[in-house]
Amino acid sequence: MSNPHYFIETFGCQMNVADSELVAGMLQECGYSETRDMTQADIIFMNTCAIREKAEETVHHRLDSIQHLKKRKPEMIFGVLGCMAQNLKNDLLESKPYVDVILGPDSYRRIPEIINNRKKQNGYEVDTRLSKYEVYDNLLPSRHDGVNAYISISRGCDKFCTFCIVPFTRGRERSRSNESIIREVKDAVTNGFGEITLLGQNVNSYRTEEGRFPHLLEAVALVPGVKRIRYMSPHPQDMDDHLLQVMTEHENICNYVHLPLQAGSDRILRRMNRTYTKAEFLTLVDSIRKFMPNCSISTDIIVGFPGETTSEYEETLEVMNKVVFDRAFMFKYSSRPGTKAAEYMDQIDENIKQERLAQLIDLQQSHTLIANQRHIGKVLKVMVEKESKKSPQEWSGRTEGNMGVIFDKNDEQIKDIVNVLIQDAQGVSMFGNRVLEKEMIHEVN
Ligand code: 5AD
Ligand code: SF4
Repeated sequence: MSNPHYFIETFGCQMNVADSELVAGMLQECGYSETRDMTQADIIFMNTCAIREKAEETVHHRLDSIQHLKKRKPEMIFGVLGCMAQNLKNDLLESKPYVDVILGPDSYRRIPEIINNRKKQNGYEVDTRLSKYEVYDNLLPSRHDGVNAYISISRGCDKFCTFCIVPFTRGRERSRSNESIIREVKDAVTNGFGEITLLGQNVNSYRTEEGRFPHLLEAVALVPGVKRIRYMSPHPQDMDDHLLQVMTEHENICNYVHLPLQAGSDRILRRMNRTYTKAEFLTLVDSIRKFMPNCSISTDIIVGFPGETTSEYEETLEVMNKVVFDRAFMFKYSSRPGTKAAEYMDQIDENIKQERLAQLIDLQQSHTLIANQRHIGKVLKVMVEKESKKSPQEWSGRTEGNMGVIFDKNDEQIKDIVNVLIQDAQGVSMFGNRVLEKEMIHEVN
């Protein structure tokens, strides 16, 4: 008889991608193999996201659209994991009786036990308790082959931004030990991953007895074989010169910071409980650029937060115009039951939110293009990631600033970092040609 199979589908942020890899590792330990064909699966897990209403709706639809699989194979384990499990367990139990396992983000260690129980009898398993300690030390994730390994260094969040559901779905902030992170980094390198992305809901508030985030970042940079390091997402409040200094000192730490702005008005920032002002944010951007003049900066922005007036919204545009972010992830505010902002009485009309978002997206598109056009004529370090979708003769790679570059193939391999002379920028991509070392020397001469 062949191995039983699992199928995991992941929604939402990179932290969920990393969690799904942990769960996959555990399932493999239990003797399961992965299948990409969900009709063949004995376990289906949906790892869900609750950050915005739309994310939840997507999962609801997906669950409904595959419920027939469970009806056809009643002994199958059909589970909902992650932030929605945590948040909506009663709703799921009532409205989706075909879901028989519900596990919050701190309950994945129970998976082997649940599989064993299931061998004895059918029944529901619901565990959405949050832990103050769980960091999934000593579990090895099963990653799909690729260039980048996500490594989670902390879990949960204590910041309580008033719009955000994460502190409720993922619980209190806790950091994993230096030692176990470094072990996982080494393991990822051994398995051929050239790029490491350190993850935390609030990655730069990482702290253990051995030190704080800059310390850890430096230790990761010193692991032999790590070609590139990124980290996500930092909070502006916890950025400091020490961190920027460490970034400048290690070539393999990308000159790239994802720095969520959220809003440009001080009143809105206060109401969001973001703990910085517009001026402080701008000073921080200056400081990043002083340490690393070529640093790419991306951001997250929310429009239509309760009470946001037109002029307050325009302050967000003003900050965008001052900074010219390389990239931005922009969202309409979505009310999350249980959060403080959901209780604010001055919610913004959906049409206004939509208009503001459309304008913001337009502005950012022009900024991304400007930022990319600035690179034309420069040689950038690009990591080869995959074949370009458009042509088998071209590679698609990424700059340190996390922007896509298309260039003609030579003799390079995936995961190589090569010098590419940027010749054009369109949309969110850049186009160029590889410059070989001997040509670079020639150029200098
Ligand atoms: N509505 C809209 N966007 C949100 N985000 C978090 N919570 C909400 C919400 N309720 C955005 C923030 C955060 C990103 C991950 O998602 O911009 O940085
Ligand atoms: Fe949510 Fe704010 Fe924590 Fe980020 S810092 S996870 S936005 S509460």
